Amino acid sequence: MSNHLIEGRTIRGGETLMPGEILIPSEQIQTRLKEMAPQIAERHAGRNTLILGILKGAMLVTSDLGQYLYDAGLKDTTLDFMRVESYGNGTESTGQLTIKQDIMEDITGRDVLAVEDIADTNHTLNFINRYLLGRGAASVSIFALLEKKSRHVVPFQPDYVGFQIGNIFVQGYGLDYKQMTRLNRNIFVGPVEPNGR
Ligand code: IMP
Ligand code: MG
Repeated sequence: MSNHLIEGRTIRGGETLMPGEILIPSEQIQTRLKEMAPQIAERHAGRNTLILGILKGAMLVTSDLGQYLYDAGLKDTTLDFMRVESYGNGTESTGQLTIKQDIMEDITGRDVLAVEDIADTNHTLNFINRYLLGRGAASVSIFALLEKKSRHVVPFQPDYVGFQIGNIFVQGYGLDYKQMTRLNRNIFVGPVEPNGR
């Protein structure tokens, strides 16, 4: 039984796709975000939520989700970013987290909605959750666009998940391989070398 407030929609068959093939087309990402926004907006209504995008991977999803939340009536929000790096140019998390750019706003007593691209090993989300609470946030909610349940090393439960995917490396829509392809609007199967697409 899951404690997710919004459980991720399962995407099947990714393991049978070849690198470069689209796993989640842009339209499906946008439809899912639009569908989730009213429920999330309702939960955060009247709480002066700080929407916190985790850079760089969550920049597109933070922008798109944030606009759908606004459309859904959640207008009393502020927006900030922090940049955390969990690994260099490989496809595996090292578990070593570094804050490359800290939050600018004072989060003491604030309700923070952290937006992340993917919950993989969970090292990052676990770290961010503890960090924000340690900085005095009144509450921390976590949105993860993607979740790879089979890869979790640290038990951690995001509150809102867009899609459940299998044990595959993905790129696009914020996600990179060697820093490339973040601006591709689709999520596709990797790893695809920077000059390969
Ligand atoms: P975690 O700490 O292992 O949960 O992973 C967090 C970070 O690893 C994410 O924010 C991504 O930047 C990166 N990551 C994990 N899986 C993928 C993937 O499939 N494609 C691209 N980046 C990934
Ligand atoms: Mg990231």
